[in-house]
This record gives sequence, C-alpha cells and structure tokens, in this order.
Amino acid sequence: MLTTMSFGEKAKTMQKQEWGKTADGQPVYLYTLSNKKGMEAAITTYGGAVVSLKVADRKGEFADVVQGYKDVSGYETDKGYFGALIGRYGNRIAHGEFKLDGKTYNIPKNDGANSLHGGAKGFNKKLWTAKDVSGAAGQALELTYLSKDGEEGFPGNLSVKVVYTLTENNELKIDYAATTDKDTVLNLTNHSYFNLAGAGSGDILSHELMIPASRYTPVDSGLIPTGELAPVKGTPFDFTKLTVIGSRINDDNEQLKLGKGYDHNFVLDGAMGTMHKAAEVYEPKSGRLMDVTTLEPGVQFYTGNFLDGTVTGKDGKVYNHRYALCLETQHFPDSPNHPNFPTTELKPGHRYHTTTIYKFSVK
Ligand code: BGC
Repeated sequence: MLTTMSFGEKAKTMQKQEWGKTADGQPVYLYTLSNKKGMEAAITTYGGAVVSLKVADRKGEFADVVQGYKDVSGYETDKGYFGALIGRYGNRIAHGEFKLDGKTYNIPKNDGANSLHGGAKGFNKKLWTAKDVSGAAGQALELTYLSKDGEEGFPGNLSVKVVYTLTENNELKIDYAATTDKDTVLNLTNHSYFNLAGAGSGDILSHELMIPASRYTPVDSGLIPTGELAPVKGTPFDFTKLTVIGSRINDDNEQLKLGKGYDHNFVLDGAMGTMHKAAEVYEPKSGRLMDVTTLEPGVQFYTGNFLDGTVTGKDGKVYNHRYALCLETQHFPDSPNHPNFPTTELKPGHRYHTTTIYKFSVK
C-alpha cells in the first residue's frame, strides 16, 4: 500500500513474515502494522493473536505492553489465551450447556464443570486467513475464519471476519463481524494481557483503573454469574473513579476470594450499540494511558490471577502472578442461560457486528 507522506515522515508498509509452522505443518504468518507515530502491532494468523504492541511512554520511549510468545509453539500450547481472538463464546457457559429454540447444545467443559472461551479448541487455536485491507483509517489486517456447523458443539456454519486497524491516533481498533446459516449464540472478544510499564516488567497492582460501571455480575465458585446485577457502590468493585488496582485487591470480600482477585464482568453504564467507554488504565511511572471504548454492554476485568511464573514469553520474560491485566469487552458470561442478560443470539439473515478500540496516549 502506498501512503501519502508529509515532510520527514517515513512510509512503511505493513510487513508480512513467515512465522514457522504449526505442529501439523501448516504455515503461520506474522503481520506488523505500524503508524507514523512509531506505534507497532504484530499480529499472527494463529489464533489472530496480538503478539506485540509497541507504545510510547511520556519520554517517547517505546515498550511492548502485551504478553506473548516468541513462536507458534508457544501459542499452540498456551492455556492463558494470550492476545488471542476468542470465540465462539468468550467467557463461561455453565456446565457447557445451553438451550436454543428448545434444543439443548453441549460445549466441551474445559474449565472444571464449565466451558470457557469457546470450548476445548476455540478460535484462539485456529488458523485465520489474512488480507491487507489498509486504507485511509490506517494499516489494517483482515482475518477470516469459517467455523463449521457443530464445531465445539455450536450450531450453524459461522463465517467470521475480524479487522485490526492501527490508526494515526494510536488506536488499535478491532471490528468483529459474523453471519450464520442457523440460529446460534456468539460472544467475540480479544484476550490481550496488558502491562503499561512493559510486559513482564512487574505486577500491575500500581496501575490505576477506571471502569464506568455502577453494577457488576457477581459469580459463584465456578465464576458463573449468579444472575444478579449488583451495585459496585461501597465495594472493592467500585472503579467509577480512577483507583489504584492493588489498593483493595486483598480486601476481605467474598467476590474477590471467589475470583482470586478481580475476574469479573462489569455492566457498563454506556448505551450498548453506541461507542462508549469501557475502561481507562493509567501507569504512573511511564505515563502511559489506555482508553478502551466499545459497543459491548460489558467488560471482563481480570488481574492475571492465574499467572504463576511457569510461562516464559518472548524476550525470555517470565510472567508472574498479576503481571498483566485483561479488559475483555463482551456480552455477559453465561448469557445463553440468563434470559435477563442482553441476548447473544445470532440468526440467519442478521449480521453480528461489534467494535472495540484500545487507544494509547500519555499523561
Ligand atoms: C477468565 C479467567 C481465565 C482467563 C484465562 C479470563 O477471561 O475470566 O478466569 O483464567 O481468562 O483463561
């Protein structure tokens, strides 16, 4: 792609590189998107994962702010969903079971008694087809995948398209679209693990967070929502003002104990279907600020409670307990079993479409 340049700016096109092969011999590619400000996002066709995201601090120094692996085998054996596209159903479905049009469907249980992030082999373990669709909005990578009728137990041939765009405003924009030929359920997200001081550099407890949500969905011991939309006011779940993440994480609170920290869905105050704020994260030492906006009604805030130092990522970095945080925009967990939650059903003739933007700046 040719871009128009102003003085002193270097044109750099999207880079495509061969990135080895899967264990069963299929080629994998790594695409690097960049903008004129120097921000870079590397995305692999394996799981559509964001492998690295280089963002400037207040001195203009760049650091990679997401966890990832150095090669494909890292992603093939990954259990933490690092950077990956999640589907068909982001988050949990109780007992891996739901009813749709009177019929019961079963999804593999891969998280104790429940199903998590699409079952045993979700979209994070699939090879996506990539296409450079760069344009006026910035360098853009389209990833497509056809999930066959019955895959992981879900009904309908589902055709999925995800577009990652890196804009000149230092935004990583993710557009998700899908169509189906049978009634189905769907909840797509991205599972990046952020550390705004640099991935692998320490824990995220001194990051500050704001989530404009006056309610959240409390969970049981399997992290399945009880169905209640509980007020955050007066609890450690009140992030309506910028708050240091570690300040209440060890409070004597039943929900924090069940989540082993924060691992909860927040009910966003903004109107679903219009772009609204999901979160703001600030890291005081680097000055990096991340602003998350979305069309989704919820966001899962997860503090990397299951990271335990057993995984070594790219650059030899070890990911210890709470070294990263996730902000997974989404419909609420287990929605197919909660008629009071916004619906996740998709019908033939309709087009699923959702957008989330991670915007970076400094303060
Ligand atoms: C879940 C966590 C889980 C993590 C990685 C998050 O979306 O809420 O419970 O450990 O994904 O699998």
